[in-house]
Amino acid sequence: MMRLDTKEKFMQWSAKAPANIALIKYMGKESFGVNIPANPSLSYTLPHLVTQVVMELYPGSEDIWEPLESNEFTAPLLNLAGQQRFLKHLNFLKQQFGYAGKFKVKSANNFPHGAGLASSASSFAALTMCASQALAELTQRPLPSLTQQAQWSREGSGSSCRSFFSPWSIWESNTASKIELPYPNLIHQVILIESDEKKISSSEAHRRIQTSPYYSERPSQAKKHLTQLLDAFNYQQWQKAFEICWQEFQDMHQLFHSANPGFSYFTPATEQVLLKLKTLWAHYQDGPVVTMDAGPNIHLLYRPEQKNLALEIKKIFAESYHVL
Ligand code: DP6
Repeated sequence: MMRLDTKEKFMQWSAKAPANIALIKYMGKESFGVNIPANPSLSYTLPHLVTQVVMELYPGSEDIWEPLESNEFTAPLLNLAGQQRFLKHLNFLKQQFGYAGKFKVKSANNFPHGAGLASSASSFAALTMCASQALAELTQRPLPSLTQQAQWSREGSGSSCRSFFSPWSIWESNTASKIELPYPNLIHQVILIESDEKKISSSEAHRRIQTSPYYSERPSQAKKHLTQLLDAFNYQQWQKAFEICWQEFQDMHQLFHSANPGFSYFTPATEQVLLKLKTLWAHYQDGPVVTMDAGPNIHLLYRPEQKNLALEIKKIFAESYHVL
């Protein structure tokens, strides 16, 4: 056991970071070790889905993780492998500062357990922000820039580097940054198809898709979608943006389905909801941008002036599903 002096016993750091939803997906890595993506990605930051991390110095011989008790937040049920991945990233951050002391790390999400929502982006971003503050103070160094913090975070979990910038974030190669686009205040909904933990993690999906016959075309296709989507947003062509995003997530899921061995996050309910969304778009000649991550749940983004439509569509799906 190490001894902490009185001041050290009371030192505590805290950070909160949001999740993000990619419209152009990070799927495929050029470098697995440090998470360099095979293609650029674009995401919208979700300020209402947040992870909080609290750190304090710990007199033990190893860093430890604990659920964070909070009224506002529910602690994630991090299994042992999840805890180890989290603490491995903390260790990497400590190395960046040449710091050898130990920490107790606590974390919690403000979205419900088992909502089937990826929390690795918000949790790795919050850990990186919190540890950067703690380590800068303890080693009396200036706080690293957000760009630097995002680069470190990327090494823990790729998509977390986009959570440092809002509302729109673009990530290419080793750098994520803010990008100015119209639509800074979108309304976000998730239709929860399944709340179970994913059987194939996104990290595993990145590996498996390398066996798909479509994999070699993926980077150029994603780049084409990115250029088209940026144009559609900049010219405020919402329906066009919807069509590009639809094709983009279908392409990613096609990589999953055509991998060897193939795998799928689609369930019959996913198919039904997607079909219904298409029908609603045809009916209203308007609707949300739709996307899916490496999971069965369906994310919807609406412009602020589509507020009533968002309520109507929510009501339709809320009859059969939990809509967050
Ligand atoms: C489908 O960032 O979870 O959500 O870098 O291995 O931690 P690792 O993968 P991760 O991959 C996210 C994949 C995705 C698409 C996206 O967010 O761009």
